[in-house]
Amino acid sequence: MNKSVMITGVNGLLGQNIVREFARDHDIYGLDLTPGIFGSSNIIQVKQLDLNDNKALNEHIMQVQPDSIIHTAAYTNVDRAEDDQDIAFAVNGQVPASIAQICKEIDIPMIHISTDYVFSGDSGPYRETDARDARGKYSKSKLAGEKAVLESGAEVAVIRPNVMYGHGKNLRSSFVEWLLSELRNERSVRIVDDQYNNPTYARRLASVIREVLEQKAWDVWHFGSKEVVSRYTFALKIADTFGLSSALINAISTVDLNQKAPRPMRSGLICEKLKKELNISIMSIDEELALLKEEMNVS
Ligand SMILES: NC(=O)c1ccc[n+]([C@@H]2O[C@H](COP(=O)([O-])OP(=O)(O)OC[C@H]3O[C@@H](n4cnc5c(N)ncnc54)[C@H](OP(=O)(O)O)[C@@H]3O)[C@@H](O)[C@H]2O)c1
Repeated sequence: MNKSVMITGVNGLLGQNIVREFARDHDIYGLDLTPGIFGSSNIIQVKQLDLNDNKALNEHIMQVQPDSIIHTAAYTNVDRAEDDQDIAFAVNGQVPASIAQICKEIDIPMIHISTDYVFSGDSGPYRETDARDARGKYSKSKLAGEKAVLESGAEVAVIRPNVMYGHGKNLRSSFVEWLLSELRNERSVRIVDDQYNNPTYARRLASVIREVLEQKAWDVWHFGSKEVVSRYTFALKIADTFGLSSALINAISTVDLNQKAPRPMRSGLICEKLKKELNISIMSIDEELALLKEEMNVS
């Protein structure tokens, strides 16, 4: 008999990739605000549910009794969170706490997706054990969620990605797809050259999640690519991989964007622990972009 897994935020970039990773040998119970792309799918059962409705969430989990829960759903609009902090803290802080509590009660493991934004971004790249110092409302709300699940006493793995990219359907925002579309339509783009990180490829993150679950690796893990680069360099690499000219990519500074929320400038996640303890290979950005190109079926 297949194992079952409940995935929150199935319509999101990561959620979709996890569904693809687990569909071959798991019964999947997806949760999201809308039926989204899996509404009429027969590979997974999707329940439309606002995770803030704690009673409905509890009842649904009790009814399904999944073997594990992978929690990807989050309030992910970093700038809007500055004004909407109540909702950001409810979704990113309270909801993970409630899910961890239920997991503990029914004795099932939880994988929780956090972020590099729990760090200040002053002096990255960061190890799992480095001191957390979130700046901005989104970051603080994610830190609250991460702390709550780690303190819950449930079997929990917290995985932190940074600048996630990949392929999915009907996504609200996807950096790679946006950039490709702009360059193909010969529109110039402005990309910051003073924010550093090692981007996380969503499809490989989904397989890392499987590995963590299978190895019962209840701990904190970092996952990204091998090298830390600026967002501008990342954009140049994307153009190069997809055979597009980089002439339309212009470097700008973060201050030019006038964004409401602060961004970690010197971020990045050291992934040695994942490699050493779980034997997961950490690839270069070029290698992962080549996989993405293959995934998107672009010749
Ligand atoms: N994307 C990145 O660069 C990045 C980097 C580091 C960490 N992360 C973390 O990785 C995780 C996945 O990110 P992602 O980019 O895949 O996110 P995403 O594409 O924004 O997907 C999140 C999903 O959760 C749903 N959701 C939001 N609030 C909900 C609620 N109250 N009840 C039920 N569903 C709700 C969203 O629905 P709606 O779209 O309808 O709101 C969306 O389908 C998040 O925890 C995020 O914090 C992301």
